[in-house]
Amino acid sequence: MRPLIQSLPGSKIREVANAALGRPDVLAFWFGEGDETTPAVITEAAIESMRRGETFYTHNLGLPELREAIAVEMTRRHAPAGRSHPITAGQIAVTSGGVNGLMLAAQALIDPGARVVAVTPVWPNLTAQALIMGADLHCVSLAPRIGEWSLDVARLLDAITADTRVLIVNAPNNPTGWTLTRTEQAAILDRCRQTGTWIVADEVYESLYYEPTAGGCAPSFLDVAQPEDRLVVVQSFSKSFLMTGWRLGWLVLPPSMTAQMGNLIEFNTSCASVFTQRAGIAALAHVDEVTPRVVSHLRLCRDTLIDALAAHPRVQVARPRGGMYGFLKVEGHDDSLATAKRLVAEAGLGLAPGEAFAPESSQWLRWCFASRDTRRLSDGVERLSRWLSSQ
Ligand SMILES: Cc1ncc(COP(=O)(O)O)c(C=O)c1O
Repeated sequence: MRPLIQSLPGSKIREVANAALGRPDVLAFWFGEGDETTPAVITEAAIESMRRGETFYTHNLGLPELREAIAVEMTRRHAPAGRSHPITAGQIAVTSGGVNGLMLAAQALIDPGARVVAVTPVWPNLTAQALIMGADLHCVSLAPRIGEWSLDVARLLDAITADTRVLIVNAPNNPTGWTLTRTEQAAILDRCRQTGTWIVADEVYESLYYEPTAGGCAPSFLDVAQPEDRLVVVQSFSKSFLMTGWRLGWLVLPPSMTAQMGNLIEFNTSCASVFTQRAGIAALAHVDEVTPRVVSHLRLCRDTLIDALAAHPRVQVARPRGGMYGFLKVEGHDDSLATAKRLVAEAGLGLAPGEAFAPESSQWLRWCFASRDTRRLSDGVERLSRWLSSQ
């Protein structure tokens, strides 16, 4: 195996989850998904497709009708925010999940030794994929202020040098809940235009946004960019349609890049499965029923969790504007991996260690608040409180 692959760090979230094997009593909030199954109207579309015998390979870039439906949905989301150009089917590549889309972007853009800048803390797959491609990776860290994380834009702009090939940015952010403003996006895009840097924008949480906005989603680089800007936006069905297990996502690309991306997909997965894509078409046809319900329940989950945590004098936490994670710091417990393992063993509570996302968040813990029953969240906070009182 390539030494580079051998040296990839193992998942610290898995390390904590493994410590709970054989412990069904543990209340687990460590992974980035909820416990609600996919809406029946989406699942039925896949079942019908399979019954019809749609069990063959299909187009590298995805079913034309799905690409069209995605283009319509993306235009609907972004036109009210000021985007002047519609997003067209010719800019869409269907992928086997957001993570596959991210890997395709990394393969397409990162040469060995290329300078890549990433905003961290971030879901570790993004930085690991750059490393797999042999990137010379530079991280620019967000900084916490009373629990809320923010970006020093000037520092980021300084890091985007003339030889920076790619900027990786995930907002709304997993794990911190940080989001970008449109002004910040415009400044970053401007800088990347000057340096010829590609932006890989992971916007898989854009619909899980709790602030009022025109398009009903978080600020996106698509709102400020022109079609031929060096911008790849990564999207997913996983979060806003409750479809994590389906492995379906998409990329929004400059039109001139799409055909070659189809070729790259050929060498990775060839295509996303047809019946999964049929489920994607059904999801988009019912977006107005599914996503607002998901978001309104997640808002309730967020408020239940954050209100309970914020009431605890030893917990520092901010209310995230987007995503589905609370990110907290517990006074006196600065080693997140050790704390997460102790919480499993001594409190029956499963959280993800901040160390998994960047060294600068190694004192923090991530709590996924996507839970069908909000009482699970209250029970979890009670377990944390009891554990802290016993220290
Ligand atoms: C920031 C971020 N990007 C991408 C993904 C990938 O999602 P999926 O591959 O399920 O579409 C995740 C999943 O947790 C994520 O948190």
